[in-house]
Amino acid sequence: MIHLAVNIDHVATVRNARGGSHPNPIHAARLAIEAGAVGIVCHLREDRRHIQDADVYALRKELDTKFDLEMAAEEEIIRIAEDVKPELVTIVPEKRAELTTDGGLNIVIDPSRYRELVQRMHALGIEVSFFIEPDSKQIETARNIGADIIEFHTGTYAESTGVKAEEALNHLIIGGSIAHELGLKVTAGHGLNYHNIPPIKAIPGLVEVSIGHALISRALFTGIPQAVKDMLGLLR
Ligand code: PXP
Repeated sequence: MIHLAVNIDHVATVRNARGGSHPNPIHAARLAIEAGAVGIVCHLREDRRHIQDADVYALRKELDTKFDLEMAAEEEIIRIAEDVKPELVTIVPEKRAELTTDGGLNIVIDPSRYRELVQRMHALGIEVSFFIEPDSKQIETARNIGADIIEFHTGTYAESTGVKAEEALNHLIIGGSIAHELGLKVTAGHGLNYHNIPPIKAIPGLVEVSIGHALISRALFTGIPQAVKDMLGLLR
């Protein structure tokens, strides 16, 4: 069975629309865990457009669960991660103008920067995942710099149809076999939803998916527990 980690960023998006404290992302996280999610993910962006610093600290303090902090490799956010000590940090690219994370991080261009980040996190017992394209050079670099996990960007697959979607899925499958042979744990995320998730199960060694927007959108109509259970049913 592939595990499900629930990204709660967009609960914070709705909350921030009115500037108050509802809906509370911590409450959403608790419901997701009770319904069977293995962990909670949030992305503390440099522009703080959804998750705020206080959310990250509250998640750490109030939830006894696997906490994955998504973040750019920027010093300000790295220091927050060192202070909060989530179980896992997922390193993503970040551009201010993007609506959401736009493609995987290119770790091949500056591996020593990322190796140093891995060492800083490992010194505190924090695992490190890199959000990358399923490309052999990216995967090998992740292994060489000491990554514990790689998360494949599934946006290209999720945004394509027909032959293009099949090609994108094929890249993910080939990437999965390379990673598996190198002994890396593989997870996947971005744009995954209730329709496009079943073929993803063909990725060799895939242990977990990270899903936010589709799940929180469905939860508006069904509630979070049902939205989580429906996704778990598709991951079995
Ligand atoms: N994984 C990573 C690394 C992401 O940046 C995101 C988006 O924040 C997700 C997973 C979840 O994507 P979605 O909200 O499209 O499910």
